[in-house]
Amino acid sequence: MKTCIVVSGGDAPGINTAIETFTRLARQNGDQALGARNGMAGLLDDQLVELDRSLVSLLAGRGGSILPSSRRPALQDPNAREKLGDVMRRRGIDNLLLFGGDGTIRHVAPLLAEWGVSCIVLPTTIDNDVPGADYTLGHDSACNYAIPAVAAIRATAHALPGRIFLLETLGAPTGHLALAIAYASGADLALLPEYPLELDWLSERLKQIVAREGSALVVASEAYPDVDRLVEEIPRRTGIRLRYTALGHAQRGADVSHWDRRVARDMSRVAWRAFQDGNVSGTVLWRAGAAMLRQGSPPAEHKPPPDRRLYEYINRL
Ligand code: F6P
Repeated sequence: MKTCIVVSGGDAPGINTAIETFTRLARQNGDQALGARNGMAGLLDDQLVELDRSLVSLLAGRGGSILPSSRRPALQDPNAREKLGDVMRRRGIDNLLLFGGDGTIRHVAPLLAEWGVSCIVLPTTIDNDVPGADYTLGHDSACNYAIPAVAAIRATAHALPGRIFLLETLGAPTGHLALAIAYASGADLALLPEYPLELDWLSERLKQIVAREGSALVVASEAYPDVDRLVEEIPRRTGIRLRYTALGHAQRGADVSHWDRRVARDMSRVAWRAFQDGNVSGTVLWRAGAAMLRQGSPPAEHKPPPDRRLYEYINRL
């Protein structure tokens, strides 16, 4: 069996661990695994590489992805099907192991299935917003990355009181990532796109928190409406300085947490087993504490919004 590994869309911590697990299983069982550079676009252009065994092991715990990805919708190219068929035939590729988020699951995988290409997707996104999955690979590492950042902000907040700190996370278009970070780090407020707040209310609440605690820590999702305006308006309305920090893409390149290493290995093992059993198309979902194969099309439902009760608890609503 020969599998080509493709990373499609945004990278996430844990992809390298999953690649290492899959390639090791392949090697131990006399199968072959190779990788595509630059996502589906690279695969169509035959940008395939051997996965260097020692390099893959060395980088298994590093964030990002050793195989560069691409957001180019390469399968929309009118010649895509033919090009893909040519590459797979010429290279003797039996199936594809795809890493990606909701876009890959909804748009890339169904098209491949329609074209008769054997393909399994591992949902990987720090955003944790894939329908049908309780958890997506990379989310925990991205949260872990935020924890020391919050602790460091708290240290300076304590040392020089009288400021509001607004820490922005990635996670667009949803607030799952921001909520998880806000709760774990004991933030005073969480701002999520799913539950916008009145600016007057927010300003008043921040004034109270600073008066009581000496400072305030707000965790906001990048998708919260108009964060730039908040940064300008809140000091104007409260008379308190606001300091803004964006965690940004460092969250995607964060070291892989213990949890994500485990999830990555479990997911890869399920995918490898499915290929062995001849299951041609599906998604490896993390559900009820375990990796499981969902065959065929992705779940039709939408991911529920971030936990409202947790949100209300943080914001004391
Ligand atoms: O979907 C993952 C994610 O990291 C989001 O959290 C973020 O909004 C987006 O990708 C950033 O994408 P890019 O790397 O293309 O800027």
